[in-house]
Amino acid sequence: MDKLVVRGGNRLSGRVKINGSKNSALPIMAASILGDGPSVIENVPRLRDIRSMLSILDSLGVQGCHRDDGSVTLEPVDTSKNVADYAQVRTMRGSICVLGPLLAKRGRAVVSLPGGCVIGVRPIDLHLKGLRELGAKISIERGYVVAEAERLAGAEIYLGGAFGPSVLATANIMMAATLAEGETIIDCAACEPEIADLAKFLNAMGAKIEGAGSPTVVIRGVEKLAGARHCVMQDRIEAGTYMIAAASTGGEIIMEDANPAHLGAVIDKLRLAGVSIEKANGSLRVAGSPPYKAMDVTMLPYPGMPTDLQAQMMALLTVSDGISVVTDKVFPDRFMHIAELNRMGADIRKEGPSAIIRGVERLSGSHVMASDLRASAALVLAGLVADGETEVHRVYHIDRGYERIEERLSKLGADIHRAEDDET
Ligand code: EPU
Repeated sequence: MDKLVVRGGNRLSGRVKINGSKNSALPIMAASILGDGPSVIENVPRLRDIRSMLSILDSLGVQGCHRDDGSVTLEPVDTSKNVADYAQVRTMRGSICVLGPLLAKRGRAVVSLPGGCVIGVRPIDLHLKGLRELGAKISIERGYVVAEAERLAGAEIYLGGAFGPSVLATANIMMAATLAEGETIIDCAACEPEIADLAKFLNAMGAKIEGAGSPTVVIRGVEKLAGARHCVMQDRIEAGTYMIAAASTGGEIIMEDANPAHLGAVIDKLRLAGVSIEKANGSLRVAGSPPYKAMDVTMLPYPGMPTDLQAQMMALLTVSDGISVVTDKVFPDRFMHIAELNRMGADIRKEGPSAIIRGVERLSGSHVMASDLRASAALVLAGLVADGETEVHRVYHIDRGYERIEERLSKLGADIHRAEDDET
């Protein structure tokens, strides 16, 4: 297993190019199951989660290959397969998005229940509700969802849940409805840009989807879909992470290919804290000089502040001036990083779905344990500003969502390297 060793104190400066979005690429790759021919997905990041999805698709008879130019080719060659087994789904909860396409295209899907994880319980009731309303017969057997339908039928489906809309439930129902008979209306759909990106790919395959990216999505079912070519949108979470990293080190970076239209809440919050952000010709310039003002931040479904940047924002606020309250309304239990940030000298107390952060003058480098993908990014960010050396253990989490983070941060001037870990 690897660890990341970070020596704090260097300002980040220079240019960084933002990669294609993991959370957009995953459902788009799953959607290739729906096509009658090969698809080519461009701008796919080189990440562990992408490799996991390639392997799940392979087990489902979709041959895939990630090429040197960053494109992934996917071709359904054996449509008799319909079981996504536990060993694979367990490595990545995002794999639940094969459920809708398998059911719609192959009439039967047997997909392992993903189970909970450190960021929360993560039920899939909304996915199942939507598919049932499209006419699927669903049962849970020995930890697997077994879904069957000869042909799905369009329906009006309300997809709101206790924590707002669900991104992957919206993706699953939208994908399933493309091949259903008649019209489907999804109400209270997730508005995340990744949903609009998926709809763009599905429409390129021949689907008839309108309104994706808004709370109401209308899908007119078609008889069949073809393979298609698509370029994945830029990763707004990776962009946000580099913005926070640059700001917290008092650095100045230019981010190429970041889409400011997807970063409204992040830009607003960072500006309120005192960070300077300028948009110019497809790039974003981020500069600042800590300490920043403390503030309250609430994580909400898009276009609110993304839960996937909660931990990174918290790392920034640990050394801000005053008391901040961070609340996560999407994943109210996503706070495993608090204990690790406190090991570094932060003063954070969890209070229900919120964390109260009293800004301290400095963090001190320590051994910390990454618990999930975004928490590991937050610990690296904290390490960049801490005194001395921080060792982030269990860093395999970070490779699920950040391509070569240590190389890219090093190029920006950070003192960071990967080393073999004999402690975990
Ligand atoms: N929820 C339900 N029932 C459901 C589905 C979700 O109650 O059937 C709840 C969840 O427990 C949560 C809320 O609804 O409280 C929102 O969860 P959502 O379903 O939107 O999450 P997701 O679709 O499973 C995607 C991303 C996550 C990201 C969330 C929220 C992918 C592969 N994953 O998950 O990304 O945090 O949306 O934006 O797209 C990450 O990249 O680190 C990550 C965890």
